[in-house]
Amino acid sequence: SWTTSSIIDDSVAAIRAQVGDGHAVCGLSGGVDSAVAAALVQRAIGDRLTCVFVDHGLLRAGEREQVERDFVAATGAKLHTVDAADRFLGALAGVSEPEQKRKIIGREFIRVFEAATAEVAEAEHVGFLVQGTLYPDVVESGGGTGTATIKSHHNVGGLPDDIEFALVEPLRTLFKDEVRKVGAELGLPETIVGRQPFPGPGLGIRIIGEVTADRLATLRAADAIAREELTAAGLDKEIWQCPVVLLADVRSVGVQGDGRTYGHPIVLRPVSSEDAMTADWTRLPYDVLERISTRITNEVAEVNRVVLDVTSKPPGTIEWE
Ligand code: XMP
Repeated sequence: SWTTSSIIDDSVAAIRAQVGDGHAVCGLSGGVDSAVAAALVQRAIGDRLTCVFVDHGLLRAGEREQVERDFVAATGAKLHTVDAADRFLGALAGVSEPEQKRKIIGREFIRVFEAATAEVAEAEHVGFLVQGTLYPDVVESGGGTGTATIKSHHNVGGLPDDIEFALVEPLRTLFKDEVRKVGAELGLPETIVGRQPFPGPGLGIRIIGEVTADRLATLRAADAIAREELTAAGLDKEIWQCPVVLLADVRSVGVQGDGRTYGHPIVLRPVSSEDAMTADWTRLPYDVLERISTRITNEVAEVNRVVLDVTSKPPGTIEWE
């Protein structure tokens, strides 16, 4: 539309004015904000932008491909992926407590991102860091703009102690729905611009108990089935998000084929919400629930039971951890 394309034109002009002939780096999370911010900056300065994507191993099925293949195909952006799954799993070993998981994941994420960014910055003389800050975030945090410092002290080999960046925040005046429109107009696929909320700590806070590679594989498979069926049923717009949770420390008895099983339950947590502050459990059609349940118990070896969370928020939070 006219307004969306004028937002893009203004934004591209402002980015060019700010960055000049400099170089920028942008972290991609897999979410809509960072993708649209990166796409705008890419349009403005081309391959003087480098995108950094940290694969922490806690992503859902297909999410890395969405960034590495679909985002890159849509934008032509230069992408540097960091494979950090082993590092995150190592740091999470033996940890079950939710807030401790969050702390560890957040800490490791910053370390890995900083190291990757410092490396790119050194190679390319980067002076700018792109962030997908939205208007509501600006208001909430009091409105200041500024600089960020990336510390490279945990790196080896000749990097400066600190690299200072000026922030580029092309979404600072936009609301979420405008960001989605801008992203669509820039050619980003619906899987990215229409994405439902997904927490930064990823599947790490949807395994109740310790996070291991096997448990991640089980949850990833169950989650992929649930998402596929919800999408096929045309329910994506009706649902705010639907966490799929693995009760890894719980087992129950089942019967499958000609034998007794002793497997784990999967919880479906479909919610309807305006802003995630409050939420209602979504009354999904029984036939959709049936398809999800049948497929998960047939196709995911470790799972012999699917249960539905019918708790509103409050008292339940949307996520189980
Ligand atoms: P809760 O579980 O608190 O979730 O009702 C509210 C919204 O926030 C998301 N969420 C997170 N997002 N890091 C994030 O980036 C987190 O640690 C986190 N925990 C919850 C959740 O998916 C929902 O949209």
